Amino acid sequence: MKIVIAENAGFCYGVMRAISMADKYIEQKGSIYSLGPIIHNPQVVADYERKGMYVIESIDNADRPVLIRSHGVPSDIYLKMKSKNIEYIDATCPFVKEAQDYVKHLAEEGYNVVIIGDKDHPEVKAHISYADRNAVVINSVDEAKKVNTERIGVVSQTTQSVDRFSKIVGELSKHCKELKVYNTICDATKNRQDAASSLAKVSDIMIVIGGRNSANTRKLYDICKHYCDKTYHIETEKEINNEWFLNAENVGITAGASTPSYIIERVFNYIRGL
Ligand code: F3S
Repeated sequence: MKIVIAENAGFCYGVMRAISMADKYIEQKGSIYSLGPIIHNPQVVADYERKGMYVIESIDNADRPVLIRSHGVPSDIYLKMKSKNIEYIDATCPFVKEAQDYVKHLAEEGYNVVIIGDKDHPEVKAHISYADRNAVVINSVDEAKKVNTERIGVVSQTTQSVDRFSKIVGELSKHCKELKVYNTICDATKNRQDAASSLAKVSDIMIVIGGRNSANTRKLYDICKHYCDKTYHIETEKEINNEWFLNAENVGITAGASTPSYIIERVFNYIRGL
């Protein structure tokens, strides 16, 4: 059985940056809060709780420094923290920040801002705030058909699939006079998705590792499943069913942006031991 780990599997730049900022501040301050889980990976969140980083859902009663995770936060959270004198560590990914800036500029220039992404995702919720909440979130061509306005300014959730983004932008172009598009899909996402789909095409089994609450891992699963029917989404090696590998010759492994390398290694070693 040949086992291959896809290129670009696991932590992306923004997550690594947030993790190293958290490590540094825990060392300096002893313990900190994270506004929402630092990444969508329950194992990592539990490890960090043991080290001294506690997840909070609101800053209202924060009595120690607060880490802003890589997804970013709505603009009013910064104002609240400043007014309450709460110390914060801003680990918003620079690529997410860039998308927030584009949203702000588009709104200031009078475009009707359209964000392509999942309206319930924290990153998208934050994006909306930079357009003073005057933004529409869509995630399908059908939804794009309902948008009708003169000037549309578009940005994307950073983890959106390129294919879907292009189709939706194509549809939007039929419903306005002027269209300004910022492709804010992060390269890390595209590279990971491309490498995973290439590997899925030549694998009998694909294992996708990542939190069930991780949107980019779920997207990775969908992409792999399209090319490889036997695709399984797991969080750790404990969820592996040995029977999946009967008669398998080529096994591919990939992992979402919030999956640490030690979990990928454990999965690899478990499969190699079969
Ligand atoms: Fe940033 Fe891209 Fe990761 S936007 S958080 S480097 S997926």
